[in-house]
Order: sequence, then structure tokens, then C-alpha cells
Amino acid sequence: MKNEEIVCYCSNVTKDQILDALDNGAKTLNDIRRMTGACTLGKCKELSPIGKCCSPEIVDIIEQYQKGN
Ligand code: FES
Repeated sequence: MKNEEIVCYCSNVTKDQILDALDNGAKTLNDIRRMTGACTLGKCKELSPIGKCCSPEIVDIIEQYQKGN
């Protein structure tokens, strides 16, 4: 199932891209940053509709992924 939901609005990174990075061996938030470019620009206040950084959401996705595996 495709998940095109945007997680990082600063870098336009979707949930699918984060899940792909996890499939490709990412284990930490820093791995996700390096592999997808998510959570690297820090313009969240201007660019994100929720006005905050995506990092807690990315950490949640990592935790859920690791629980499921
Ligand atoms: S929303 Fe991801 S770094 Fe701003």
C-alpha cells in the first residue's frame, strides 16, 4: 500500500520514503536524515502546517517499524 502522506514538509519526504529507508537498513533518526533528507532543513515553522519539526513523527514511525519486525 502506497503512503504518500508527507511527514517532513521542509524536505517533502513522504511516509513511504521513510519506510523505504527503514527497509534499506536505517535504524535511527540520523539514518533517516542521511538517507531521505528529511528533518535537515529546520524551516518547520514556515513550511509545516503543524508548525513543528517532524522529528517526533519520524521517531514514531521508526519505533512502529521496529515493533513490527
Ligand atoms: S518538517 Fe521536517 S524538518 Fe521541518
